[in-house]
Amino acid sequence: MSPLQVTRTLPEDATDAALRADVHDGLTSVPKTLPPKWFYDARGSELFEEITALPEYYPTRAEREILAARAGEIAAAAGARTLVELGSGSSEKTRYLLDALTDLTTYVPVDVSESALTQAGQALVEARPGLCVHALIADFTARLKLPDTPGPRLVAFLGGTIGNLLPAERAGFLASVRGLLSPGDALLLGTDLVKDESVLVRAYDDAAGVTAEFNKNVLAVVNRELGADFDADAFDHVALWDATNEWIEMRLRSRTAQTVKIPAVDLAVDFAAGEELRTEVSAKFRKEGITAELAAAGLELTHWWTDAQGRFALSLSTVR
Ligand code: SAH
Ligand code: TRP
Repeated sequence: MSPLQVTRTLPEDATDAALRADVHDGLTSVPKTLPPKWFYDARGSELFEEITALPEYYPTRAEREILAARAGEIAAAAGARTLVELGSGSSEKTRYLLDALTDLTTYVPVDVSESALTQAGQALVEARPGLCVHALIADFTARLKLPDTPGPRLVAFLGGTIGNLLPAERAGFLASVRGLLSPGDALLLGTDLVKDESVLVRAYDDAAGVTAEFNKNVLAVVNRELGADFDADAFDHVALWDATNEWIEMRLRSRTAQTVKIPAVDLAVDFAAGEELRTEVSAKFRKEGITAELAAAGLELTHWWTDAQGRFALSLSTVR
C-alpha cells in the first residue's frame, strides 16, 4: 500500500447539496449568515496560508512558539502511535509533533480542503519515509469515522479553529471528539486567548488587505459553485470585537442596495445599503471557560501551555 492514502468520506455531490442548503438557509435568515467552512477552496486555503505570515496575525506564530518549546512534553504525556489532526490545512506546525512523537506510526489529517490535504500529505510522505499518512477529506462537524489505526491516539485541533464554531456547535463538537477517544488517548487543543481589542481587530483586518480578500473568497465560491453573481467589490470587509460574546466577528457589508441572483438555489437576495452578512466568528478563550467546556464534554484538562506573551494556549485533555 502506498504510504499516502486519501479517503473522501462524502460523495462529490454531497458538498454541493450541503453548500446549496447552507447558502439557501443562511441568505434567507435575518441577519444573513454563511458558514465558514466554505472559505476553504484551493484559493481560500492559499489565502489562509498568506494570513498566517502577516505581521498582524499573531496566532500562528504564538502557537508555533508553544509547539517548538513543548512538543517533547506533549509527546511524553500523550505517547501516541496515531496522530489525528482536525482542520490540518498545510500541516506546517504539525511537524513539531511528528518529530517529537517517537512511537508514531500513522498520521491522519482531516480537512474539507482537498487541495491543502493532498499537498501537505504528499510533502509529508516524501519527507518522512515510514510514516503512514491517511488523509481524510471530511467535515469535522459531522460524525467522523476514523480509520482503524494503532493506539494510543492523540487528536490535535490547532490554529484556534475551535473558535470558529458557535458555542452550541462547540459543545456538540467537543462531545463528538470525546467519542473518538478511549482511555489513554488525548486531545491537544489550540485556543486563542482574550486580549486587547486593538490587537485582535488588527489580526482580522490587516493593512495589506489579505484577510479582506479571504473573507470575500466565500462569494467567489458561491459564484463558481452555484452560478451566483456576487460582485466582491460591492462589499466591504468588516472585523469587529464583540465584548459580550468575546469573539471577533467577520462580516461583509453591502456598499449599496443590490440584488444578488443565485440560480442553483433559485434565489434573488436583496441587500440594503450597509446591510451586513456574517461570515465567521473567531471566539477567544480564557482558561476557566475552556476548562469548563471540556469538562462538560467529559474531558479533563491536564496541561496548559501559553506562549511567552500569553496570547495563545495549547491544552491537553484526557477522558475522565
Ligand atoms: N490547522 C491549520 C489550519 C487552520 S485554518 C493551522 O493551524 O494553521 C482552518 C482549517 O480547517 C482549514 O484548513 C480549513 O480547510 C479547515 N476546515 C474548516 N472548517 C472545516 C470543517 N467543517 N471540516 C473540516 N475542515 C475544516
Ligand atoms: N481559524 C482562523 C482564526 O479564527 C481562521 C481565520 C483567520 C479567518 N483569519 C480569518 C477566518 C479571517 C475568516 C476571516 O483565526
